Amino acid sequence: MNHLIAPSLLAADFLNLGKDIEMLNKSEADWIHLDIMDGVFVPNISFGFPVINTLKKVTDKPLDVHLMIVQPEKFVSEVAAAGAYMMNVHYEACTHLHRVVQEIKNAGMKAGVTLNPHTPVALLEDILTDLDTVLLMSVNPGFGGQKFIEHSVQKVSVLRELISRKNADTLIEVDGGVNLETGKRLIDAGADVLVAGNFVFSSENPVETIHRLKNL
Ligand code: DX5
Ligand code: ZN
Repeated sequence: MNHLIAPSLLAADFLNLGKDIEMLNKSEADWIHLDIMDGVFVPNISFGFPVINTLKKVTDKPLDVHLMIVQPEKFVSEVAAAGAYMMNVHYEACTHLHRVVQEIKNAGMKAGVTLNPHTPVALLEDILTDLDTVLLMSVNPGFGGQKFIEHSVQKVSVLRELISRKNADTLIEVDGGVNLETGKRLIDAGADVLVAGNFVFSSENPVETIHRLKNL
């Protein structure tokens, strides 16, 4: 499979969001990654449903919603109603992860589970075949523009190995500090989806930057 690129809207220009969405629409971006933060699970607050709902009206790109919130199970139907393609919940935020994953799928969305940098991939062994995506955090969640955590490349390899041992078709997505250099190493290790925020939106030509990430 050719890998996918999911630019993170957190790094967009919120004063000119329409312009940035237009840019994404004409780019090779496969998904749009939306970072929802509650100031409790992570030490920052971003944006919520009004933004997702508005976005859905102006783009056909699948929306990849990354919930950095406590009790994400409370919002399954709202995230589905907002038109999300993928709902990503944190392993660390779900006591009854299996139940939440089933609820996400029953609501008609793809189910993703996100791991913080300190959470071992092996903890997903018994649920892996139920997951559409595993999102590996390669920075501590909460902020864009942070330094890539090197150990993430090895985590991708370990997860790739677990996925093939389980005969699963789960995608490996990586989020945080992705650029052409870290992105290439992640793809070589077996990643399927790269999230990139600042590297895309701070570049001079974001459409070209997405093209280069897509062609790693
Ligand atoms: C971090 C978010 C990321 C972030 C990535 O909490 O989950 O999606 O926006 O930003 P960059 O690519 O700038 O590290
Ligand atoms: Zn994210």
